[in-house]
Amino acid sequence: MGRDDDKKIVMKFLLDSNVKEHVSILPIVGIGGLGKTALAQCVYNDKMVTKYFDLKMWVCVSNDFDVKKIVKNIIACAKKKEQTEVVMEHLQSELRGEIDGKRYLLVLDDLWNVDQEKWLSLKTLLVGGARGSKILITTRLPLVAKIIGTALPHFLGGLSEKASVDLLMKIACGKGEEIQDPEMLAIAKEIARKCSGVPLVVRTVGSLLFFKKTNFEWLHFKDYELPDVSQREDHIKYVLRLSYDHLPSHLKQCFAFCSLFPKSYKIRKQTLVNLWMAEGFI
Ligand SMILES: Nc1ncnc2c1ncn2[C@@H]1O[C@H](COP(=O)(O)OP(=O)(O)O)[C@@H](O)[C@H]1O
Ligand SMILES: [Mg+2]
Repeated sequence: MGRDDDKKIVMKFLLDSNVKEHVSILPIVGIGGLGKTALAQCVYNDKMVTKYFDLKMWVCVSNDFDVKKIVKNIIACAKKKEQTEVVMEHLQSELRGEIDGKRYLLVLDDLWNVDQEKWLSLKTLLVGGARGSKILITTRLPLVAKIIGTALPHFLGGLSEKASVDLLMKIACGKGEEIQDPEMLAIAKEIARKCSGVPLVVRTVGSLLFFKKTNFEWLHFKDYELPDVSQREDHIKYVLRLSYDHLPSHLKQCFAFCSLFPKSYKIRKQTLVNLWMAEGFI
């Protein structure tokens, strides 16, 4: 995934058994679309990591830091079962029961507004694991990292130029195809450079290029449509907007309809298609 160095740093943290604290917390920090979640997933699914921990749990936090909801989701993940319990005291003892004495890994993905008090009340519930337990958090906000981390945050950088070009080509050309034309390759490199190493931008631009087949179209896109994206949220939104603008209008409403689902909601394909049909979109 072109993130070998980042992966090494995070793995070293996770597999370190020589720790002072009971549970150590590493924040991964970077703007949206930079690949924080992807990096966390990559280490979470690593064989060595899986073998090292007795228990692994992944919870998506997003907008509201609701301690009860998070505790519920942690238990659900540990037990692989929805939680219906609503009394906080019961949830707390259930959580303690799940992690007690186990070396666990917990990922809290996409933390936003955390105040110190709420965090401490959650942290108190999480110290019962065996020494060497680790928490990985991803966040856009350095302040959140400062409040929560026990280790210095890992500030994620952009993809290397080579990784960006490779990713761009993979998406722009589809599976199995490769561009041989040196002129097109040169344009691709310049386009990749304009994406500033932000994987979400590279992917979005790649999928736009997929529909453009000639050097002229690529060149036109590079010079007149794609701005220089620096690693800033508003620039990134601009490129995402491009991909929306390129949709034919009947698909725009299908896409816009998806905003009715909450963030991180797992959308079932067939349900979505049925809903689109009910709306008369397709
Ligand atoms: N190293 C990578 N190689 C290829 N694609 C990546 C890489 N990192 C992230 N992506 C893709 O870029 C998009 C944004 O990544 P994500 O991890 O969701 O960003 P973040 O969590 O920082 O907002 C996703 O579609 C993800 O699959
Ligand atoms: Mg994320």
